[in-house]
Amino acid sequence: MKKRIITTCLCLAVVGSLGLFAGCSESGATPSGTSDPKAGALGAPALQPADHEGKFERGGSNMCYGCHGNGSLANPQLTGAVIIPEDHYVDGSYDSKELDPIRAECITCHPVA
Ligand code: HEC
Ligand code: HEC
Repeated sequence: MKKRIITTCLCLAVVGSLGLFAGCSESGATPSGTSDPKAGALGAPALQPADHEGKFERGGSNMCYGCHGNGSLANPQLTGAVIIPEDHYVDGSYDSKELDPIRAECITCHPVA
């Protein structure tokens, strides 16, 4: 009986680690079919589309939040806007509904294309 339990544990451990490896190789790879430098692959910040020209100067990060941020009804607030990654939020959580001050200067990392 005891042996059976140990075997089960080992199996679970093996399956678990396989899952982990699969996860790693997926996240390390470029998303299927994208070579688009704007895609944000491998941690590179995406460029703002050209039609965003002047937005940051006019409205700052609050304006960005109005479309891309987590609102009370939807995240992102505007359907079709690209969701802001959770790591941009205070406490690394969408629940804070507040952007981390370190991310306030969107334009330094996300220049306009
Ligand atoms: C009026 C709504 C609106 C506002 C305000 C807005 N955006 Fe966007 N943004 C969009 C939409 C919709 C898209 C996706 C469509 C597109 O690419 O044109 C987008 C795309 C982007 C992308 C490209 C993401 C990608 O993966 O290609 C970035 C980066 C971005 N916005 C950043 C910002 C920043 C920074 C601000 C504030 C200065 C901002 N946006 C303000 C609606 C908005
Ligand atoms: C210190 C650099 C930095 C700042 C400042 C910053 N970002 Fe980002 N952002 C990134 C990086 C890096 C990524 C891609 C990797 C990730 O974090 O998921 C990203 C991803 C994004 C994405 C997703 C794009 C996609 O294609 O999936 C959006 C939308 C975005 N940021 C919006 C904003 C907005 C709005 C602000 C300002 C409030 C901002 N960012 C400030 C570095 C930054």
